[in-house]
Amino acid sequence: MNQEFAKKNAAKEAVKFVEHGMTVGLGTGSTASIAVDLLGNKLSENFQITGMPTSIETKKQAEKWGMDLIGIEDRDSIDIAIDGADEVSPSLDLIKGLGGALLREKKVGRKAKELIIIVDETKIVERLGVGPLPVEVGTENHDSIAREIEKQGCQAKLRTEESGDVFVTDNKNYIYHCHFPEGIKNPEEMDVRLLNIDGVKDTGLFVNMATKVIIGKEKSIEIWE
Ligand code: 5RP
Repeated sequence: MNQEFAKKNAAKEAVKFVEHGMTVGLGTGSTASIAVDLLGNKLSENFQITGMPTSIETKKQAEKWGMDLIGIEDRDSIDIAIDGADEVSPSLDLIKGLGGALLREKKVGRKAKELIIIVDETKIVERLGVGPLPVEVGTENHDSIAREIEKQGCQAKLRTEESGDVFVTDNKNYIYHCHFPEGIKNPEEMDVRLLNIDGVKDTGLFVNMATKVIIGKEKSIEIWE
């Protein structure tokens, strides 16, 4: 499969749902960025939208197109959001955040009346937790927060840059990548348990949030809803 074609096909389909005048959550990552460029390229007198970016990186990208932008706290509710994902289960639950933007992505996703997830086929899993679950934590006492996280049955590894420096999120937090040897049996329950740990800012588990998942393939798309 040509992954680039697959991502493009998913992004192209997603932007069809965006109408003139809408406020649109702009996701982060390589697939979401294709959608941002497609929306930017479509801007005209008859197609104006207001974007709510989920990261500094996406904000910069949208600014280049001259898109009207607002901050996350500026609106309680937005029409639609388009974002990528790292894993998608058959019940449309997701793991997100390997791009490091999970906290803002979740806030924007929650505000969206429609959250469209765009992925290629490689992101589909039977059970979440095939790869790591990113968990964003405060920097203070992060080691002990990680030990608490591990009590939920995973191994937590601090995310670092290629240089070896600790990765710092847009919100000035750290991220632990949590490996669950048998996957995550009950994502909803795990999300609540992790969020109850002092110092955990948010998790990459997006449960009951996606309203549509567009799976891009090399020459076609499939929509789950
Ligand atoms: C960023 C994310 C991304 O949407 C996710 O990592 C998928 O990225 P890509 O489309 O590059 O595979 O959650 O925090």
